[in-house]
Amino acid sequence: MENINLGFDSLAVHAGSIEDALGSAVSPIYQTSTFKFKNADHGARCFSGEEDGFIYTRIGNPTIGELEKAVAALEHGYGGIATGSGMAAVNTVYMAMLGSGKHMIGHHSLYGPSRSVIEGLYTKFGITSSFVDATRVENVINAIRPETSLIFLETPANPSIEITDIVAICEIARQHNIPVCVDNTFCSPYLQNPLDLGADIVIHSMTKFINGHADVVAGMIVTKTKAFYDKLRPVMVIMGCNMDPHQAWLTRRGLKTLGIRIDRAQESSIKVASFLENHPKVEWVKYPGLKSHPQFELAKTQMRGPGAMISFELKGGLESGKIMMNSVKMALLAVSLGGIETLIQHPASMTHSKLSKDAKKAAGITDGLVRLSVGIENVEDIIADLDQALACV
Ligand SMILES: Cc1ncc(COP(=O)(O)O)c(C=O)c1O
Repeated sequence: MENINLGFDSLAVHAGSIEDALGSAVSPIYQTSTFKFKNADHGARCFSGEEDGFIYTRIGNPTIGELEKAVAALEHGYGGIATGSGMAAVNTVYMAMLGSGKHMIGHHSLYGPSRSVIEGLYTKFGITSSFVDATRVENVINAIRPETSLIFLETPANPSIEITDIVAICEIARQHNIPVCVDNTFCSPYLQNPLDLGADIVIHSMTKFINGHADVVAGMIVTKTKAFYDKLRPVMVIMGCNMDPHQAWLTRRGLKTLGIRIDRAQESSIKVASFLENHPKVEWVKYPGLKSHPQFELAKTQMRGPGAMISFELKGGLESGKIMMNSVKMALLAVSLGGIETLIQHPASMTHSKLSKDAKKAAGITDGLVRLSVGIENVEDIIADLDQALACV
């Protein structure tokens, strides 16, 4: 169907849809590893690119292609490249943009593995990096070197909820001819479109809001131009970072309700954040919808809403965090985020418990920090659950 001029939710439902010969309302799952050629010449034409045709699912597949087209349409990009996980998307970008002698600038509080893989694994390929507080543009400017070949941002960042000025950093990057990639996982295309703000590449852990049902691990890269698409897609294929058709089908189904899921979770998040901010056992709350957020004004200019991710600090530190985690009844004590279920986790005693004090500090992890991903349950129940858990602290 012709998708031009459709609104977000209409695109989320229809974009990329396959015209099925039997007229099924829902696109079928092409659960196949390979595709038959009509004859040897046809095979040759598909391989040379003279004819569009599917060859092998690692290279391309109709079900995966539908999802790629849909997310690219929502991100206002040239094309989408689906990957088996969010980290596969991150690594495809790193592999394509970096190399021996190259340097990357990253925001200091990226999702942990997006930073640790650069500071660990990639150093053996002669790649260097500077992780700086990119909420201050001058820190990025000062970190630029002649060999800098990628700026990697994540905004809002996980779990600090720090917000980076995408327009300002892309402006600087353009002056130095450095590509910018933004991890848009926390917002999803419903709340923020980094490509419209000057970025060259967007990545998603679609495990989170885009799929939204905690039943799939998946990633996506969207590029602004054909040139970046042509640079990145072959890397995904040769590295085997591809998605599986069934994974793509589930994610495409989740994507259809992205807008209404975020509307509901966000409406509740505003109430939950205010409840927490007024609670005597809570030291501070970081939520882009609260005036107390240091980048409240910036959030309003680059995001269409504050989202459904909240971080807060408990007054009693580590012990209080553990007690609260053991006391929640409805919220799931689990990592991940962006699903229909409210998820809660305490990084200092869980995901980041093995990190040194310095590493925790660098990642913005304090002893009482709690990360909350607000789901679509009734807001009264979410608040009542947090209230009774805080009473145990
Ligand atoms: C912001 C962000 N980027 C990337 C990832 C990695 O995604 P995945 O777990 O799908 O590999 C995560 C996972 O939590 C994340 O929160």
